[in-house]
Amino acid sequence: MMNQLQDKHVEVSAPTTSVAYFDTASTAWSLRYQESRHFQERLQKVLNWMAAYPPFLDVLDYGCGSGVLLKALSAAGYNLTGVDLSAGMLEEAHRCMESVPQRERARLFRVNEHFESPHVEQQYDGIFCLGVLEYLDDPTALMAHLNSLLKPGGFLMLSVPNQSSVLRGMERWIYNNAVWFRPFGLFPHLTGKDNYLQHQRHQFTVKELSSQLEPWGLSLKRTHFHVAPALLKSFEHSPAFGMSVITEWVKPTVKKSAF
Ligand SMILES: C[S@@+](CC[C@H](N)C(=O)[O-])C[C@H]1O[C@@H](n2cnc3c(N)ncnc32)[C@H](O)[C@@H]1O
Repeated sequence: MMNQLQDKHVEVSAPTTSVAYFDTASTAWSLRYQESRHFQERLQKVLNWMAAYPPFLDVLDYGCGSGVLLKALSAAGYNLTGVDLSAGMLEEAHRCMESVPQRERARLFRVNEHFESPHVEQQYDGIFCLGVLEYLDDPTALMAHLNSLLKPGGFLMLSVPNQSSVLRGMERWIYNNAVWFRPFGLFPHLTGKDNYLQHQRHQFTVKELSSQLEPWGLSLKRTHFHVAPALLKSFEHSPAFGMSVITEWVKPTVKKSAF
């Protein structure tokens, strides 16, 4: 079980549930890809990694949000499926698909909190789960589910907040001491009402991810650390600074018996 983050935030009003948070955020979610370097870099990195794979693969985006990644992958010839818990996000993802030719569009389905959907029963050659695990009560359960959905020889790309980052530590310290900053309007994205840290339940080290995934046979193929304020940008690729980490894992192919 991953370490749950300690929330020392003293808020007057309780935060909304994370599904309500994502429903509300859904209409502007795709805009973040135009405005935020973090979102752009993450998208570009997984697209670069994906470029090594052939077309016609069955690919799943778990927690697909407004469908930006699915749209970016649509012209490459994959059989794309996107699932999400938030009806608002799925509505946006359907909207995002409207500009994609019919035959290239992703199939989109809602899953519940128990990862159930009557439509997601097959296995996939590749699975993305970007910026999702940190919002769950039990991220290990989702990792186990994703592993069960992955074909032998398949890949799993995860993006999570990097617990080893000193900047993540500072961010959470500001969040936990919001009362000092709020009167001066400082760091509104960390101290304002219903900000994302109220919903972020976990951060992860690569070692922790490895200790979950390796016993299931998955092996780490590559990592990419990124995100830091402009002033510290030159340190962002260091595990001690990069606020997020993208990892790619591969599942072994089934060995043929000699007999
Ligand atoms: C931070 S957003 C990331 C969206 C998208 N992956 C991206 O990178 O733009 C997190 C997404 O995970 C979804 N989510 C949260 N819990 C989920 C769950 N248990 N099952 C499926 N999706 C979930 C949210 O609704 C939201 O769309």
